[in-house]
Amino acid sequence: MNCWKIKKLQTQNFRNLKNSIFDFSPSINCIFGQNGNGKTNLLEAIFFLTNKKSFRKNTDYAQMINIEGENPELILQAVFDTNEELLPYSLRMTENLEERFLNNKIEKSKTPSTSIFINPFDSYQFHTSSTFRRQWLDSHISIMDKEYKQVLGKFQKSMRFRNSLLSIGGRTVSAQLSAIDLQVSEYSAFLTRRRFEFLASLNQFITPTFKAIFAEEHALELTLDSLFIHWDEKRIYDFYRHQENSDIKSQVTQVGIHRDDFIFSFDGLNAFEFCSLGQQKMAFLSLIFAYIELFRYKFTSYPIVLIDDVSGELDSLRWKNLIQYLETKDFQVLITTANENFGKELEKIPASRKFYIEHGSLKNHG
Ligand SMILES: Nc1ncnc2c1ncn2[C@@H]1O[C@H](COP(=O)(O)OP(=O)(O)OP(=O)(O)O)[C@@H](O)[C@H]1O
Ligand SMILES: [Mg+2]
Repeated sequence: MNCWKIKKLQTQNFRNLKNSIFDFSPSINCIFGQNGNGKTNLLEAIFFLTNKKSFRKNTDYAQMINIEGENPELILQAVFDTNEELLPYSLRMTENLEERFLNNKIEKSKTPSTSIFINPFDSYQFHTSSTFRRQWLDSHISIMDKEYKQVLGKFQKSMRFRNSLLSIGGRTVSAQLSAIDLQVSEYSAFLTRRRFEFLASLNQFITPTFKAIFAEEHALELTLDSLFIHWDEKRIYDFYRHQENSDIKSQVTQVGIHRDDFIFSFDGLNAFEFCSLGQQKMAFLSLIFAYIELFRYKFTSYPIVLIDDVSGELDSLRWKNLIQYLETKDFQVLITTANENFGKELEKIPASRKFYIEHGSLKNHG
């Protein structure tokens, strides 16, 4: 996986962003601007360029094209720094076509980098919604493990088919159910094993990362809550066969990895039940930065880190801790804030580049 830093970006017709050229620092980039001026849109443009999808749900061309513009073509033009040379990478998109070019040649699969997006709402959702936790884990494991992504896609397809059979019901579906259960159990065993292994690796980084950022000793752990841990596919298959009548009655697959959960503990207690909102956010940030460390361990390079106004609920000391942590790291960061108080801390970082966005345009930078 290539993980190069983004050096320049120019957008055309991407949401409210005007055609300004952003010249980024390889370390910390602070994006300032009042509400509704284009800070998150800038992060989204970089995320879309590098991850081929938006971090906003159900977002595609129709949402991203400038609604006021006359030209229906969305263009993102970037230059990436490979450490050895500068390489152009661009994207052209219309309603029916998306083309990407690396070094002026069509590039269909790879992107020059991957970016990780951190936003203020994710911490709350991560602690309160098991669906969100599962989706977060699935998408972040998929970034690191292409086989996991593939098998997850197959599992979801099989599970949709299983549930459609269950909704038809009756004795006639039994033979088809036993056939689909062979697939479901094979994929379930694989995915549970990979989730378990991923968490074992990630957990090595979470507690030390919390300490590195916030200078406090707390034991943090993310664990998998699943019936299938250490089960082989034969045992899972037998389980589903045994469940058949009950599943037919309820017309849905009641137990399985599509409903498994992840428990985040803080000093041995459930973080959602026992931690303050600020501590939950600190724990969540440590989880993400632990993930970024694991990413580097695996790929020997960092992703681009996009941090969207995470200052809410962090007091000024914790915010300062976070900024100091970012200063010690080698990854490229883009961090936004509309909060002037927190902005002051960012303004003080000597090596950072500052950007001020107003009505979608770059005002000036320093
Ligand atoms: N497709 C689009 N075309 C034009 N403008 C859009 C489009 N999509 C969103 N916008 C506008 O872009 C503006 C900037 O949005 P953005 O989320 O980037 O603001 P922000 O600077 O991050 O603000 P905040 O500090 O409130 O998070 C909003 O006013 C939004 O209505
Ligand atoms: Mg925003």
